[in-house]
Amino acid sequence: MSQPGIEKSVAVNPGARPRGETSEAAAAESVRDLFDSIAPRYDLLNHLLSMGLDRRWWRRAAHAFRGILTRPGARILDLCCGTGDLTAALLRLRPHGAEPITGLDFSTAMLDRARRKFRGANVVWTRGDAMHLPYADGSFDLVTSAFGFRNLANYADGLAEIHRVLAPGGQIGILEANQPDGLRGWGYGIYFQHLLPMLGGVISGQPAAYRYLPDSVMRFPRPQQMLGMMHDAGFEQCAWDGYLLRAAGLYRGVKG
Ligand SMILES: C[S@@+](CC[C@H](N)C(=O)[O-])C[C@H]1O[C@@H](n2cnc3c(N)ncnc32)[C@H](O)[C@@H]1O
Repeated sequence: MSQPGIEKSVAVNPGARPRGETSEAAAAESVRDLFDSIAPRYDLLNHLLSMGLDRRWWRRAAHAFRGILTRPGARILDLCCGTGDLTAALLRLRPHGAEPITGLDFSTAMLDRARRKFRGANVVWTRGDAMHLPYADGSFDLVTSAFGFRNLANYADGLAEIHRVLAPGGQIGILEANQPDGLRGWGYGIYFQHLLPMLGGVISGQPAAYRYLPDSVMRFPRPQQMLGMMHDAGFEQCAWDGYLLRAAGLYRGVKG
């Protein structure tokens, strides 16, 4: 696992700002509308544009937490669960008779697809806002999120909210896209900033949504900065495991 040094003093964007929205409330509303609009084609495009790597990444992230997942009584929250693929990957590692996983998202259309795809699964699908979680302090032993966290309107507040709902010793796992540096970053930039928005826009019929996707990755803190923010939020043992030439990676930390 690569563990870049923690960077505390670098100013980072406070959170996602689709279409240059200035307030956090407007940014969150815009993100929700965007996911509602692309929900019907989200899975198809995800698999296509990631060339099938998304499935492998969800499985790999889930396996990183098998120590917690195999405990039947462990309480697990998958934030920004979307159409439910990370939730399902986590579920595969749960023993028979385990507590259900909670999958939370604020897009009704994404959540409806999750419910339909994984009908009968041991999951409590919940509509809610990751910035204001409807749970008491210390309610979970593991909080995960795949490709959702960077859409939050305020990253520091989002981390504080996750920290609040985790029990002491509980773990955070955030799987997020990253912009690689150097030559790799250049090649990746061509694909991610030009080819992907074009293909995504044509197939989904929602070009603005697929322009937002690379923008949101460019705005997102680099691993050192994100680790610094996790540390500031009170997490310990913060680490980042880069996937596929650092095009994505899993952030981990423990609530001390
Ligand atoms: C790129 S999708 C990821 C979905 C899924 N985790 C996956 O890996 O495919 C991002 C999801 O985050 C959700 N989301 C963004 N901001 C949110 C917030 N503040 N509260 C709840 N869900 C949010 C969106 O509705 C969307 O379903």
